[in-house]
Amino acid sequence: MAACAPPPRAGVRITPPSDDVATAISYVSSVPNDLEVKATAMTLLLDHPTAPATTRSAARARGARKVYGSGDTEVVALDNVDVDFAAGEFTAIMGPSGSGKSTLMHCLAGLDQLTAGSAFVGDVDIATANEKELTLLRRDRLGFVFQAFNLVPTLSAIENITLPMDLAGSKPDRAWLDEVVTTVGLAERLAHRPGELSGGQQQRVAVARALASRPEIVFADEPTGNLDSTTGAEILAFMRHAVRQLDQTIVMVTHDPVAASYADRVVFLADGSITDHLTDPTPDTVLDHMRRLGN
Ligand SMILES: Nc1ncnc2c1ncn2[C@@H]1O[C@H](COP(=O)(O)OP(=O)(O)O)[C@@H](O)[C@H]1O
Ligand SMILES: [Mg+2]
Repeated sequence: MAACAPPPRAGVRITPPSDDVATAISYVSSVPNDLEVKATAMTLLLDHPTAPATTRSAARARGARKVYGSGDTEVVALDNVDVDFAAGEFTAIMGPSGSGKSTLMHCLAGLDQLTAGSAFVGDVDIATANEKELTLLRRDRLGFVFQAFNLVPTLSAIENITLPMDLAGSKPDRAWLDEVVTTVGLAERLAHRPGELSGGQQQRVAVARALASRPEIVFADEPTGNLDSTTGAEILAFMRHAVRQLDQTIVMVTHDPVAASYADRVVFLADGSITDHLTDPTPDTVLDHMRRLGN
């Protein structure tokens, strides 16, 4: 297996389309087939919340296999993965660098396609959905937080946070938006543009943007990786609050046993396979598992 994933490209610029939703949807379909650009465009299209689910699986993979390259350069990033993310649950995904964590989330979020097997969000099969169905799925039901924040540089923090809803023509839930903004500690910084914010503050804007429209499921790829521990703890506590009190479903990749301990469950990946699960994690039990798995 190759050593590590390609580095994120910094400074991808997205010019938002008009405030008309149909134009915005065709815009996402037309942007280059570049993961980061599509992801940014996708986050611009998040819509109003859908009804929270109860006991069903919010997302799942069956026999998921993902192979990059071929011949000598072939990399099996996912190898026969079966996993369920229950609605209303906070799941952490852990594993060494290159174990397939990001690939799994991208394939579940419809940002990348599996080589074999299936991935579902709710009852939508990512493999057979067409581009328009995938666009609607991303807009209506998914939020994504990237390690590289993917903010629109020309907009203020609050404009970035509400842009998806503005584009979709939906009104933010004011009380919820205030809670999100206060919890991520951005109330004093709302008029600032990303370039005027620290990395940690930019990541807080990205987290707020993913949560602001209350999508059915939020995927977060190392969302606290660039934050100091105090800011990280506030955001983790907020995500847990959203899950416990508000039925949000969150799947989060992290390297940090303390961050993982905020989740209800930890799924461990190694070499593209799930090697273990842990429920009600504490930093100590997570560390124990990591040691046992040789992480
Ligand atoms: N676009 C790509 N092209 C080729 N190989 C890739 C690509 N994306 C990921 N990989 C490889 O797939 C494996 C899993 O990567 P990734 O899912 O990014 O791991 P993680 O997020 O756990 O660090 C790694 O070996 C990585 O180098
Ligand atoms: Mg990764």
